[in-house]
Amino acid sequence: MQRKLFCLLLLLVCLAYHSEGTKADDGYKLWQRYEQVQDQAKLQVYRQAINELIVQGNSPTLTVAHQELQTALSGLLGQTVPSSQQVTKQNVLVAGTPASSALVKNLGLTDRLKAVGNEGYLLQTSTKNGKNYTVIAANTDIGVLYGSYHFLRLLQTQQDISNLSIASAPKIKHRVLNHWDNLDRTVERGYSGFSLWDWHRLPGYIDQRYIDYARANASVGINGTVLTNVNANALVLTEDYLKKVAALADAFRPYGIKVYLTARFSAPIEIGGLKTADPLDPQVQAWWKKKSDEIYSFVPDFGGFLVKANSEGQPGPQNYGRNHADGANMLADAVADKGGIVMWRAFVYSEDEPDDRAKQAYNEFKPLDGTFRDNVLVQVKNGAIDFQPREPFHPLFGAMPKTPLMMEFQLTQEYLGQGTTLAYLSPMYKETLEADTYAKGKGSTVAKVVDGSLDNHKLTGIAGVANIGNDRNWTGHQFAQSNWYTFGRLAWDHALSSEQVADEWIKMTFTNDNKFVAPVKDMMMNSHEAIVNYMTPLGLHHIMGWSHHYGPGPWIKDKHRADWTSVYYHKADEKGIGFDRTKSGSNAVAQYFPPVAKQFGNVKKVPEKYLLWFHHVPWDHKVNSGRTLWNELAYRYSGGVDDVRQMQKTWDNQEGMIDQERFQHVKQLLTVQEQEAKWWRDACLLYFQTFSKRPIPQDLEKPAHTLEYYMSLDPKFVPGI
Ligand code: GCU
Repeated sequence: MQRKLFCLLLLLVCLAYHSEGTKADDGYKLWQRYEQVQDQAKLQVYRQAINELIVQGNSPTLTVAHQELQTALSGLLGQTVPSSQQVTKQNVLVAGTPASSALVKNLGLTDRLKAVGNEGYLLQTSTKNGKNYTVIAANTDIGVLYGSYHFLRLLQTQQDISNLSIASAPKIKHRVLNHWDNLDRTVERGYSGFSLWDWHRLPGYIDQRYIDYARANASVGINGTVLTNVNANALVLTEDYLKKVAALADAFRPYGIKVYLTARFSAPIEIGGLKTADPLDPQVQAWWKKKSDEIYSFVPDFGGFLVKANSEGQPGPQNYGRNHADGANMLADAVADKGGIVMWRAFVYSEDEPDDRAKQAYNEFKPLDGTFRDNVLVQVKNGAIDFQPREPFHPLFGAMPKTPLMMEFQLTQEYLGQGTTLAYLSPMYKETLEADTYAKGKGSTVAKVVDGSLDNHKLTGIAGVANIGNDRNWTGHQFAQSNWYTFGRLAWDHALSSEQVADEWIKMTFTNDNKFVAPVKDMMMNSHEAIVNYMTPLGLHHIMGWSHHYGPGPWIKDKHRADWTSVYYHKADEKGIGFDRTKSGSNAVAQYFPPVAKQFGNVKKVPEKYLLWFHHVPWDHKVNSGRTLWNELAYRYSGGVDDVRQMQKTWDNQEGMIDQERFQHVKQLLTVQEQEAKWWRDACLLYFQTFSKRPIPQDLEKPAHTLEYYMSLDPKFVPGI
């Protein structure tokens, strides 16, 4: 009997331990967990403030807003909130537009609503006829959905909702994910499984994942998705595939998400039976027009095309002696009457061009400023090389005032540790957005170029190369979810701070307990810098493993293209290291506006984080710390490893604060990351030491293996190629 009692007690203790906060969790729900508010006082306040939910109107978008509010409130408040069409209770949550809802119309918000435009919303506390209202109001149904998510975020992060007066509208019009997904479901540079798009079972089968993907996007204001890889396959433009595309578009539409496709420039030849894809050929133009009309017959609100042309072997207008504007304009004309846009990528560099790769996009695109149609955006990567762990901002920003330039960030961590690395990328995105181009004097930030305010563009856009796949937790690494979240939040409002976005994400994804939030936020905030330090400190770049880009490979040389090797970029020799992009070198600095060019071009003034990006620097050059360059490199590489160890400690201290499943997932991946960090440090220092001929400072950890060992490592089947 006693034994039975003991076992029962033990069971109860175990059950209690595994209740709130410690339930197994695979991360599928992202930041939309809607668990009961932990703080009891807040919970009581919220319960009192919301006794009734009224969503008037029944469009597909209002219906999903209604459902989301209902589900979320019952989870967050731990009780069902009655939903009705008329006010019957004292404290009412109302959502709608003046057109859908008489209640909203009569609450006196008309003037303030004018200021929030098509996608914005108001969250407002008000009283009328003795009743208390919390109002989610917008001019459009999608605004109501966005406002609903904002309101839920307030509850999820346990904010005060007693006196709301919030107006919010997006700063950028097109906030678009770029999926580099192939039709065979592999994902180029994807580290979280295979493509979400189950082409084979489409259009008949609509996976619940499509809906949950759309919910997650809408919750952060993402309003577009390019379904297919920039290295495009023309097949997606054939009727069979367009039916599948239409099914996805139908699933996403209620959530305000438009579908876009990548256009393979040679499609008129490959699937159209034409002899040429010359953009000035009337037959080619007619083919694209007809094709676009066909797409619109399947997807009436089709967003338009994203194009990679004459870049890394892709076909393009230059194959016919035409330029990028000729190509972009032809496609723009094909979609213009239906309101479509063309996002034409500026990621170009030539196979035959010996000039510094960093200069080539600017050289090709700047002269074309003013020659693009009104519905073309030129999509520019954040930096001039290719999503390196750190890059100075792309010199095209500010240099094409007559053309709307769209930002392209990479969320998937191609060069940032891929699927095993904890990297919170908001600080990196913000570094670029806040950089000052000086295009129109001080304060001409990249953000102002992108949001159109610098040159008065109404057509604006921002793209994020998606990190989403069919892994159960969507992004492979639990913390990579934060980059999806961040992209949406910054696309909506680039003025948000990285800390604030991290704070929201942690609270919504894990817990509001500050014992967890504060240290984990610190860990996230330092994570990008740690990676830069153990991979490419002081402005080093493009020194990773051949082709798969996983792990270090500073020794890569003698490939068919010089600009795909590492030695091309670091230029280490007996004298020093770094790429001379000043007047004495490639003079890439001259592509920046004079105040920036002067700063970047001066070895004493250049921010140290870009030192070796712009300068070839002697090994004994004194840096800000007073150390020689060689010693500084050694300390940076080692410091990066130490930072990862610190991250491990921080995380270990959180055991018990969240569920074991996600805790262990992150813990194990941090262990892998620590090994990878050491691999980077040791391989790079040993390799660069063959040029510097200087010792690694005594107090630093010694490399575990020889350089030959690191050079012999050859990981196979790295995902994402
Ligand atoms: C990088 C990446 C490629 C990708 C390309 C692009 O070079 O490694 O996989 O296709 O960028 O952005 O077009």
